[in-house]
Amino acid sequence: MSKSDKAKPAGPPNHVAIIMDGNGRWAQARGKPRLFGHRAGAKRVRQIVEACPGLGVKYLTIFAFSTENWKRTQAEVAGLMLLFRRYIKQETKDMVGNGIRVRFIGDRIKLDKKLVTLMDKLEKVTAHNDLVHMTVALNYGGRDEVARATKRLAQEVADGKLKPEDVDEETLTRFLDTHVLPDPDLVIRTSGEARISNFLLWQSAYAEYEFIDTLWPDFTPEIFAAILDGYGNRERRFGAVPK
Ligand code: IPE
Ligand code: IPE
Ligand code: MG
Repeated sequence: MSKSDKAKPAGPPNHVAIIMDGNGRWAQARGKPRLFGHRAGAKRVRQIVEACPGLGVKYLTIFAFSTENWKRTQAEVAGLMLLFRRYIKQETKDMVGNGIRVRFIGDRIKLDKKLVTLMDKLEKVTAHNDLVHMTVALNYGGRDEVARATKRLAQEVADGKLKPEDVDEETLTRFLDTHVLPDPDLVIRTSGEARISNFLLWQSAYAEYEFIDTLWPDFTPEIFAAILDGYGNRERRFGAVPK
């Protein structure tokens, strides 16, 4: 057995995905409306993205709005959509200057046209950046993504461009919103809930998970660094027996 065959500690994760949960409870604990918590949560994003290069994280994917979040009150949904628009407008210049490449995943069809225009523009103006690849999941659901991918795949079969017998895991991966991204190595969820709420179902098949009690507006770069430290000692097996 060569030395390189031995199970190695994982080292820093290349791709971290975060389910930013707990904004509502954070606001509630302060006797404030839920949107106050969403605004505080949005402020955290920048600090966490900017901490990535120093921590060895190249890809950061954050869950901002799920396909199920439309079930909330109209006021909360509208407030969130407005917050996304304001956030993009406010942060674009610095993201361009700070080497952050932004992408969005999720279905844009249901989103406000003004918001989609801002999303498209942000993707375009940061397209040459390469320091950190930040992906924002907005109107994103893992099942919805797989269903949309399957629809496009089926169309290629119907058009005679793809043979059913040639369809394998890699084929489906090509049709997902995340097709240009590596799979997440680590998924963090804040706020104490131990569930994944339809986030990156296909892509996280072999991710490591961290569920922490901290509410998202309280999540600091220090907490982030401590989680990554712990991750570095994990042994990832991918189904094999460690030698
Ligand atoms: C996460 O915080 C942000 C979104 C889902 C948009 P929540 O709004 O879910 O906060 P809690 O879970 O109610 O505390
Ligand atoms: C998941 O949080 C979605 C986002 C963080 C955007 P939720 O608060 O919507 O999840 P559930 O409803 O508690 O599962
Ligand atoms: Mg929640």
